[in-house]
Amino acid sequence: MTNVAISEKKMVCTDLDGTLVGDDWSMYRLFESVDTGSILLVFCTGRDLPSVLGLIERKGIPAPDVCICQVGTEIYYFLDEPTPDEYWRRIISTGWCREAVLRLLGDIGELELQEDRWQTEFKISYYLEDEQVAAVAEARRRIEEAGLEARLVYSQGRYVDVLPARAGKAQAAQHVADMLGVRREDVVVCGDSGNDLDFFRAGLKGVIVGNASSELKRYRGENAYHAEGEYGAGMIEGLEHFGFI
Ligand code: GLC
Ligand code: MG
Repeated sequence: MTNVAISEKKMVCTDLDGTLVGDDWSMYRLFESVDTGSILLVFCTGRDLPSVLGLIERKGIPAPDVCICQVGTEIYYFLDEPTPDEYWRRIISTGWCREAVLRLLGDIGELELQEDRWQTEFKISYYLEDEQVAAVAEARRRIEEAGLEARLVYSQGRYVDVLPARAGKAQAAQHVADMLGVRREDVVVCGDSGNDLDFFRAGLKGVIVGNASSELKRYRGENAYHAEGEYGAGMIEGLEHFGFI
């Protein structure tokens, strides 16, 4: 997929709920400011593809160039129609054993499996009861002790996702940048919650919007710009800071 025309572009990789989506006015203002001719737009979300497509239609927003769904476990290139990245599926399937994770965590009472729609081959998602963080620590400990090739992503005090060790928002975003020939310094990420921490820990530069949840607000690192503005307004502020708009 790499080609010269594309590799000269910059890439904005944004979370949806709580980042791009949350305040319509600033979201539309953002789309007016971003030159989609020179910037590749990547959505990176916990949602599944049908719900992203529904959102695009409902809000009348531009389709992205690429959509990373289900917390970095599915990648779709928006060509004539959304086309899955089968190569990514192969990469993340290495060492992943879904059943082993389910068995290992099945008796942790504070973790309740989310609806079937949110369970996929490469993502097991739970609701956490009453912000019982001790249960999250216990789940992490068990995964590590058992030596499973899995990682746990905790967000907003209520979501726990278990993914293949090689998956995640940052890993998927970096894979997309590689596939499109975009250099790391030409990537800016934007996020608001725990499942976006990944981006920043991986060293990608990016914007933490003003309304971010505490687990992300606490992040300190030179690669992160903490915006004052919320949602789209925070993104605009950050993209200006990084010279992207
Ligand atoms: C989205 C997904 C959910 C996941 C959460 C946090 O809400 O639907 O399955 O647990 O994001 O990543
Ligand atoms: Mg979010």
